[in-house]
Amino acid sequence: MVTVSAPGKVHLIGEHAVVYNEPAILAAVGLRCHVKAEKGKDPSKVRIVVRDGYESEHRVEELRELADKVDRLWSEGKEKGDFSEPFAFLKEDWKRASQAFAGKIMKTLGITEGFELEMWTTIPLGSGLGSSSALAVSMTQAISDLFRKDLSKEKVNDIAFTLEQYMHGTPSGADNAATAFGGMTWFQKGEGGPTIRSLAKEVPHSLENFVLVYAGKPEKSTGELVQMVAQLPEEKRNPLMRSIGEMVPSMLEAMKEKDYPTIKDVMNKTWDNLHALGLSTPNIDKIVSAVRALGGAAKGCGAVGGGVVLCYHEDKELLLKTLKELGFDPWEADLAVEGVRVDG
Ligand code: PMV
Repeated sequence: MVTVSAPGKVHLIGEHAVVYNEPAILAAVGLRCHVKAEKGKDPSKVRIVVRDGYESEHRVEELRELADKVDRLWSEGKEKGDFSEPFAFLKEDWKRASQAFAGKIMKTLGITEGFELEMWTTIPLGSGLGSSSALAVSMTQAISDLFRKDLSKEKVNDIAFTLEQYMHGTPSGADNAATAFGGMTWFQKGEGGPTIRSLAKEVPHSLENFVLVYAGKPEKSTGELVQMVAQLPEEKRNPLMRSIGEMVPSMLEAMKEKDYPTIKDVMNKTWDNLHALGLSTPNIDKIVSAVRALGGAAKGCGAVGGGVVLCYHEDKELLLKTLKELGFDPWEADLAVEGVRVDG
């Protein structure tokens, strides 16, 4: 038996722009997805238990066939430049994603024997905190460890990326990297594979006075929001993406120097760009206005369209109080936590 967990993540800067080859900085965040894997009584079956969710049992072939089907729908979507079909198929029954993940991991690692999985998470789903990446990474680690595949973190990350493709069409790969490696990560897509750089040495200190607040459930999934941005006219989208990318080195410098005025300025400018792409909601606007009025900074995170807002203010207590008075339930962000790990 093995139990593993992987953290969620938050973009300090660079969501969406990272899909267009711009760099991004992400921090693993202190909420985790847990997966316990063990050999079952019947080796021809896979049993999946989602705590407080559902329980299901499948023949091994059934899950491998499910993964074959999603692989086919995904490839067709890639060809068409439209992933509506695989997204609709996975949305039709929310349980399918974890089942397809299990099938894909078995296919990739050549596993033909069944097992039992129990999963639970503290990461709010579809919140911009990388709940699907944390699931992808922790399931990959748990199943591969159970069958003693002895994968490197890089390999776990590569497999998790293929699972993220099921969910998001053409994800950047930044979320699963942040979740797998943990800490703080510089990420940029590239022709020969992404650059994934740990910032542990450059930013050894903890970042304080950051607060997260949940602004509501997004109506669209990450994949749908990424697709919506892809369908915007290039002349509108590209300059906004480029301008986010250009701010990433300043963000890193400011983080190294603990230069909070610049961190705030960059966060607010980044948010202006994401907002201009049409990625906001009335609740996010309300939070951002209130935090800015205090002299702080705030930005929607991940795919946006709802989910969490990352806020900063030198006076954390004032920030928390203000957000509570607005009717939200903020919490202090624990940034740069450990990546995927074996807990037992
Ligand atoms: O909403 P999340 O946590 O899945 O984050 C999505 C981040 C994007 O940049 C919008 C997409 C990506 O693949 O990087």
